[in-house]
Amino acid sequence: MIQDQKHLVDEIVRLKEQRRAIILAHNYQRDEVQEIADFTGDSLELSRTAASIDCEVLVFCGVHFMAESAAILSPNKTVLLPEMDAWCPMADMVELSGPRHVWKAFPGYDEQPVFVFPHEFTLRDMKAQYPGVPVVAYVNTSAAVKAESDICCTSANVAKVVDSLPENEIICIPDRNLSAWAQKNSSKKIISWDGFCHVHDRITLKDVAKARSAHPEALVMAHPECRLEVLEAADHVTSTSGMLRYAKASSAPEFIVGTELGLMFRLRRENPGKAFYPLRSDMICPNMKKITLKSILRVLQTMENVITVPEDIRVRAKRALDRMLDIPS
Ligand code: 13P
Ligand code: SF4
Repeated sequence: MIQDQKHLVDEIVRLKEQRRAIILAHNYQRDEVQEIADFTGDSLELSRTAASIDCEVLVFCGVHFMAESAAILSPNKTVLLPEMDAWCPMADMVELSGPRHVWKAFPGYDEQPVFVFPHEFTLRDMKAQYPGVPVVAYVNTSAAVKAESDICCTSANVAKVVDSLPENEIICIPDRNLSAWAQKNSSKKIISWDGFCHVHDRITLKDVAKARSAHPEALVMAHPECRLEVLEAADHVTSTSGMLRYAKASSAPEFIVGTELGLMFRLRRENPGKAFYPLRSDMICPNMKKITLKSILRVLQTMENVITVPEDIRVRAKRALDRMLDIPS
């Protein structure tokens, strides 16, 4: 560790104790952030930890919707997001009312994806179009959207959540790829929103073929935010922490990793004898990389960047999250 970093880490550790703070980090965070975190995990694990951990302050190293979920689940804790502009573009693709954000271009695509819904189309319009059909909201959504949904899901439990509902038709928002994966793994009829994650959606079958020919012995793991044809070509489809469990349990020595590159840190640290190759070298979520040791220290010093959710929204959004958390892992 370089001297500058050591000083930052020492100060973070000192302030963390003083504030009775816990640092939670998503598996995509920078290596040095994951290294100082008290807990690192996927969205489901972080939600469960945020809800159960005993502390006064939660420093959430992830993107905005994740910190918001922690604030929804733990109203008595102060939730700090070290960088307020760490957003998830996919979460922005569905709005409750008013024109929604339309992302025109993302770097990394050979061809840009196209939206089929008009810019004005909102979740309320979709619900009006399918009256009585329950809404499963991926946790990658705003608190207001969760509040208007029946239940939440993560990449780790989408099929279980869909199957837990008594209805036979289910609306899934906002990720069209996660919806396609749910459709493949459930007998229910899934009606999907047309959102996507620009980091995972850019992967094509050509990328899989190229990676397999470079590493013919390796097993391919893919995140359910990848396109269905990519998932079908993979050896295992799972959440980020699911990949950690799969790689650890498998006797295979080599893996091709179809998710954001931040996961490489834990994959390599927890499996020193195994080799991990990225499915594509540009699978980087720029928003996940905004948080640094400096910004963590800054929020612990100033207690700024507090994430709050209006109480009427929080209570309804919590119902959707609790309903998901009640389903055993
Ligand atoms: P996981 O819940 O699998 O960690 O995924 C979160 C996410 O944002 C994936 O892009
Ligand atoms: Fe959102 Fe994709 Fe980044 Fe995950 S990787 S936070 S889904 S943009």
